[in-house]
Amino acid sequence: MSKILVSGGTGYIGSHTVVELLSAGFEVAIIDSLANSQIDVLDRIERITGKRPEFYQFDLKERHDTRAVLHELDGIDAVIHFAAYKSVNESVNNPFKYYRNNLQSLMNIIDGMIRNKVKYLVFSSSCTVYGQPDTLPVTENSPIKPADSPYGSTKQISEQIIQDAIRSGIDIKAIALRYFNPIGAHESAEIGELPNGEPDNLIPYITQTVAGVRPQLKVFGNDYNTPDGTPIRDYIHVVDLAKAHVTAIKRLLDSDYKSNYEIFNLGTGNGSSVLEVINTFEAVTNRSVNYAITERRSGDIEKIWADATLANTELGWKAKKSLGDALLSAWNWEKKYRNL
Ligand code: UFG
Repeated sequence: MSKILVSGGTGYIGSHTVVELLSAGFEVAIIDSLANSQIDVLDRIERITGKRPEFYQFDLKERHDTRAVLHELDGIDAVIHFAAYKSVNESVNNPFKYYRNNLQSLMNIIDGMIRNKVKYLVFSSSCTVYGQPDTLPVTENSPIKPADSPYGSTKQISEQIIQDAIRSGIDIKAIALRYFNPIGAHESAEIGELPNGEPDNLIPYITQTVAGVRPQLKVFGNDYNTPDGTPIRDYIHVVDLAKAHVTAIKRLLDSDYKSNYEIFNLGTGNGSSVLEVINTFEAVTNRSVNYAITERRSGDIEKIWADATLANTELGWKAKKSLGDALLSAWNWEKKYRNL
C-alpha cells in the first residue's frame, strides 16, 4: 500500500483529497499548521472513511522540522503539497507573509523529499497564473501573465521553483495542477469550505448570507463585457478536483508520466457568471439569495474558463459533477455546520 504525505491536509481541498486517497486504498499522513483549519477535520475524515490519517502539526517554514518529519515518516512514496496561504486580498496587504510562507514551505518540502529520497510531488497551482487571458478557453500553453497579486506571484514562482529544482538534476518527478474555482463540499456534509471570518469567495459568501450569518451578498460589478455583465469563472466541484489528485498520484507511482514535470488544467470547461451562479443556487436549494450589485472589486478579472482537454485525454480525468450539484452540496454543508 503506497503512503502519501499531504501537506495542508486538514484544509478545504486537502481534506477532500485525503478522503479520496483513503477511499482509494492509500495510506495518508497529514502535515498541517492548523493556521487556517480545524483539528476536528480528522474526526470528520474518520467518520467518512472509517480511517484516521497520521497527523503532524507544525509549520513547514521550519526546515529542520520538515526534514525530521519526512525522515520519521520513512516510507513515504509521494507528497501532495497543498499547504499555502490563499487570500488574494491579504496577500496584497501583507506580501512578505505570502512570499515567506508559500515559497519557503515549498522549498523545505522539496529539500525534505531529496534528503529522504521521496521522488513524486503533486503541487497545487491555480488558474491565477494566466491572469486575464487574451483567448478563451485557456490551455496549459496559454501565456503566463504578470500576476495580479502576491498570492498569484507565489503560485507562478512555486511552479518555477519546482521546474528549476528538477532541471538541477534531482530525482523528482512532479505534476502541477492548475485549479480553476473549486467549490462545494463532500456529499456527507462532514467536510466543506470554512473560511476564517468574512469570506472572500463567492460560494461561502452566498451560503453564509442564506444561513443568516451575513446580511447581504455584494455582487462586485455588472458592467463587465459578458452576456449579463457579471464576471465568468469555471467553477469545479471540490470532490472532482480531489479525485484528480488521486489520478495524478497514480500516474506518478505507475511511471505513466511523459516528462519529469507536467502541468494540467483542472476545470469543467464551462464558464458561469456570478448571476448564473446565484440563479442556479436558488433553483437547486429553493432559497433566495439577498444580494445587491455594487462596485467592481479591484483585481478581479473579467472572464476565464479552462480547456481541460489535456487532463481529459492524458490524465484520463474529467469533471463529472454539475454546477447545481456543487452548489447544493455547499448549502448542505453550511446547513449541517450551522445546525439549520
Ligand atoms: N464575487 C462577488 N461577491 C463576493 C465574492 C465574489 O461578486 O462576495 C465575485 C467575484 O467578483 C468574481 C466571482 O465572484 O467575479 C468569483 O470570485 P471568488 O473570490 O470566489 O474567486 P476568484 O475567481 O476571485 O478567485 C479564485 C480563488 C483564488 C484564485 C483565483 C484564480 O479564490 O485563490 O480564483 O482566478 F487565485
